[in-house]
Amino acid sequence: MPHAPQQPPDGDSELAALVDYLYRTRGLDIGGYKRTGLLRRLTKRLRAIGATSLTAYIDYLESHPAEFARLLDTLLINVTAFFRDDLPWEYLRTEIVPRLVAQKSPADPIRVWCAGCATGEEAYTLAIVLAEAIGDDTFRDRVKIYATDLDEPALAHARIGAYDEKDVADMPPELVDKYFERRGKQVVFRKDLRRVLIFGRNDLVQDAPISRVDLLACRNTLMYFDTATQAKILARFHFALNDGGLLLLGRAETIQLHGNLFLAVDLRRRVFAKAHGAVRPRGPIPAIAPQRARTPGVETDAVLGGTFDAGPIAQLVIDKDGLVAAVNARARGLFRLGAPDLGRPLRDLEVSYRPYELRSLIDESTTAREPVTREAVPWRATGGEQRWFDILVAPIFELGGTVAAASVSFVDVTETRLARQQLDDMQAELETAYQELQSANEELETTNEELHSTVEELETTNEELQSTNEELETMNEELQSTNEELQTINDELRLRSDELNQANLFLESILRSLRAGVAVLDRDLRVMVWNDRAEDLWGVRREEADGAPFPSLDIGLPVRRILPSIRACLAGELPSYEAPIRATNRRGRAIVCQTRVLPLLSRTSEAPRGVIVLMEEPPGDDAAAADGGPSAEGASEGDAPA
Ligand SMILES: C[S@@+](CC[C@H](N)C(=O)[O-])C[C@H]1O[C@@H](n2cnc3c(N)ncnc32)[C@H](O)[C@@H]1O
Repeated sequence: MPHAPQQPPDGDSELAALVDYLYRTRGLDIGGYKRTGLLRRLTKRLRAIGATSLTAYIDYLESHPAEFARLLDTLLINVTAFFRDDLPWEYLRTEIVPRLVAQKSPADPIRVWCAGCATGEEAYTLAIVLAEAIGDDTFRDRVKIYATDLDEPALAHARIGAYDEKDVADMPPELVDKYFERRGKQVVFRKDLRRVLIFGRNDLVQDAPISRVDLLACRNTLMYFDTATQAKILARFHFALNDGGLLLLGRAETIQLHGNLFLAVDLRRRVFAKAHGAVRPRGPIPAIAPQRARTPGVETDAVLGGTFDAGPIAQLVIDKDGLVAAVNARARGLFRLGAPDLGRPLRDLEVSYRPYELRSLIDESTTAREPVTREAVPWRATGGEQRWFDILVAPIFELGGTVAAASVSFVDVTETRLARQQLDDMQAELETAYQELQSANEELETTNEELHSTVEELETTNEELQSTNEELETMNEELQSTNEELQTINDELRLRSDELNQANLFLESILRSLRAGVAVLDRDLRVMVWNDRAEDLWGVRREEADGAPFPSLDIGLPVRRILPSIRACLAGELPSYEAPIRATNRRGRAIVCQTRVLPLLSRTSEAPRGVIVLMEEPPGDDAAAADGGPSAEGASEGDAPA
């Protein structure tokens, strides 16, 4: 059957475009959902992605296909629970199910439809209630529960039938033990009973209903749809149900407005029965005693005549020739008839066609030989007010059974009619008020459901935060332990550093205590140590000397002369070298500097790490002795290798 999305009622073009877009691209018809709820839920998505209009949202949907699933999740609120709103369940077990079973012969299947089953809790509740009512074996053998929804992820959850402990926390524990198996932290619906349930996708707006159903539960789902769509869905439910089948709605829902399809079985518990469809006929028109005409061949008497004339109902008697045989006082007053009209052909009188074409009615009644009626025929006397009559034409028989005349009665039903009109108006007002109340109630219920779902979302977020928190806590502990390790290393370092400082200070004081200037050179002849005395001797500060190449230092000592000895020491060819060397000290005085070169030996390697140059101005300096001859242990200046 061709189908087009239902359009929002007030012609909101942006919303209409979205409805149309979703229908064209995804086959989803959201046009029948209540507008306020729909907009509220759409706004949620718009806010989440930062769209400022529905048009922008359509663009977003187009370029982000994954958004559709999120939209569907927001639109299809699937808040549910086991034994939700406990009102109907016990009643179902003790009253409804036994009644359903009693209607059927023992081998007949019992077909149940749970429409809008969300994540399955309601379908399993129905299963439990049925099994409790008829026993496991009968349940397994005879029952089929079709559980449907539009929401595929919810159905996937339902099919597994596994729930958290908290989901069954409100259920009687003995039922949990009886119908679920524990698996870790979850409970799973019993396998042997599970095969009675069949979960499937069914769109209540677009898909054909499940048929030959005995019990149909559609709870807290209709309320999301507008009145017109609710009516369509209810018509499908009517079709789906077997005669005598029952419909179970949610706490906030009712079908007051569709009363000709369903009858309330228990309004408080929202249980309705399929009606057979016929609208009850109105009550019969009051019977009027057959009148006798005063025409020849028709007997009259004074008593009958008096009764006829004084009767409260306007009446005429027309003989078989179509002539007016009798008119009572009420008819005379109403239709302005008088004695001269008796014996005249009916067709010549206004009453023959106003308020109703009487001659054809008389023919119909005479031919059928039974009364015929026309109800609530309007009539307004000239200058008078509107009145309504039920017109009854009845044949009057002669003794031989032939039709001698026809009596025409005009029963004034104006009062009843006005009262009914008033009643209808009041009924309509009541229905409007009821509808508004219903809608407000459903709106509240929807908001409540949304709040529920928001709370669930928050709970999930909370759980996520908690797990993030736990992770952070773990990381924190790890960091703390790393920190402790670092602390230990740090302590050790500090200790070593102290020791080093001590050693440095010790070395420093040795260097300071020496009378000789000391220069320690690395293998590249860069100055590593330059003590105070060397500073005093040559006027070069330690900062200048540190790291500088020794041969390029501007000191009064002719370094070039001892360089060969230094290199020989470094090469391990000379154990030491000592010689007085003429030099000029920082004050410009010529001195003889007793210079000694020693290899700087390392503990491990053979090769010296550098050399130590000791430079000392001997007491009682004798410049003449300078260069006078070597006093080296192993070599003199003269011996220094070139
Ligand atoms: C609030 S839940 C009700 C769940 C359950 N019946 C209960 O009362 O606990 C409403 C369910 O209706 C479903 N639904 C919404 N529109 C639907 C449609 N057009 N066809 C079928 N199911 C629909 C949603 O997916 C959701 O699972």
